[in-house]
Amino acid sequence: MQPVNTGLEGVVAAETRLSHVDGLAGELIIGGFPLEELVLNASFEEVTYLLWHDRLPTNRELDTFKAQLKSHRALPDIILNVLQAAAAKQLPTMDALRMGASALSLLVDDINDPEETALTAVAAFPSIVAAYHRYAQGQNPIAPHPDLDHAANYLYMITGQEPEPEQTRALQTYLNTVSDHGLNASTFTARVIISTQSDMISAITGAIGALKGPLHGGAPGPALDMVFEIGKPENAEPVIREMLERGDRLMGFGHRVYKVRDPRADVLKTAAERFFPEGDEFYALVQYVEQVALDLLEEYKPGRRLQTNVEFYTALVLHGIGLPTDLFSPTFAVGRVGGWTAHAREQLAHGRLIRPASNYTGERERKWVAIEQR
Ligand code: ACO
Repeated sequence: MQPVNTGLEGVVAAETRLSHVDGLAGELIIGGFPLEELVLNASFEEVTYLLWHDRLPTNRELDTFKAQLKSHRALPDIILNVLQAAAAKQLPTMDALRMGASALSLLVDDINDPEETALTAVAAFPSIVAAYHRYAQGQNPIAPHPDLDHAANYLYMITGQEPEPEQTRALQTYLNTVSDHGLNASTFTARVIISTQSDMISAITGAIGALKGPLHGGAPGPALDMVFEIGKPENAEPVIREMLERGDRLMGFGHRVYKVRDPRADVLKTAAERFFPEGDEFYALVQYVEQVALDLLEEYKPGRRLQTNVEFYTALVLHGIGLPTDLFSPTFAVGRVGGWTAHAREQLAHGRLIRPASNYTGERERKWVAIEQR
């Protein structure tokens, strides 16, 4: 029997030009740029263009790309009806996004055209999330604003108000920060699906399913809930200790690849800071909870090198922007769909069928027993 590697850590299953994660140095490169160099300056559209074309757009290319995205934002009634049905059942927003993403098959002329499907997905994700959120609140969806770019329009479709520039900048920084991250679970899922020469809509629909779990993109909502539950500094240690005694995992801590602090946490902390004035009590509590969590993780899980990951400060920045917790994971998907589609295109162009092996541990000599004799 071959040695088993259940989590596939260390297994290299693709070559990519999209992003590189150095988990020991705590460094992330996206499209050739160090994380910090790119995400604080670029618009979401520039980062998506970079991932799809391996270079930044010129002014004219960026204008064209923005116009293409704008022309693919609107959702037809048939997809809105699906979202309304999901809202009637009060499904989690990630489930509604998965249903809406799958229904994008109805919007594209050719499901096997990777460019058209990728453009449709990236453009329509914010519309799906915002429309579903409004239905779930008992409100009608808001049509996209033709003058607003991707990030600002997302916030506009959620609230009906044009966002402040600092909200838009913080959201772009967030979306850029999570746009791509090596062969994470949801990106791997997308690559596995497309490696069978399936289509982009199937790949992103599967990727949403992988992202939704709490061990991947489902963590930021619970991370913020934990801070709210703690409420004040003196509760931090007893609450976290009790969680670790129970064997719970602390959301927003630990990572498969990073054994030092996730560099995305620092970038998002910087982006979040502008929403919390000097001496803000909630901001101070978040930082205190982080420190107590790190100390107690070292006490309960010595040597595991569990550090703050992207999700802890995702919670803070999205809360600062004003998004409710049920939109945290879907907003992650709004950012990551750029990476998923770029990886799917790369896999289609250069990849092979992804098909690992398993060790068989079952019986080998069973004899058939007729149903009357069982
Ligand atoms: N809280 C408490 N204990 C933890 C945590 C945590 N957040 N993370 C890992 N551990 C413990 C495990 O219980 C395990 O302990 P053991 O050796 O005594 O059994 C040990 O650390 C190693 O954990 P593994 O599960 O083997 O590590 P893995 O690499 O598989 O897990 C993961 C990585 C899933 C991210 C994990 O750290 C976790 O569950 N974190 C909390 C959820 C979270 O924040 N997810 C978002 C990740 S970032 C992202 O995907 C965008």
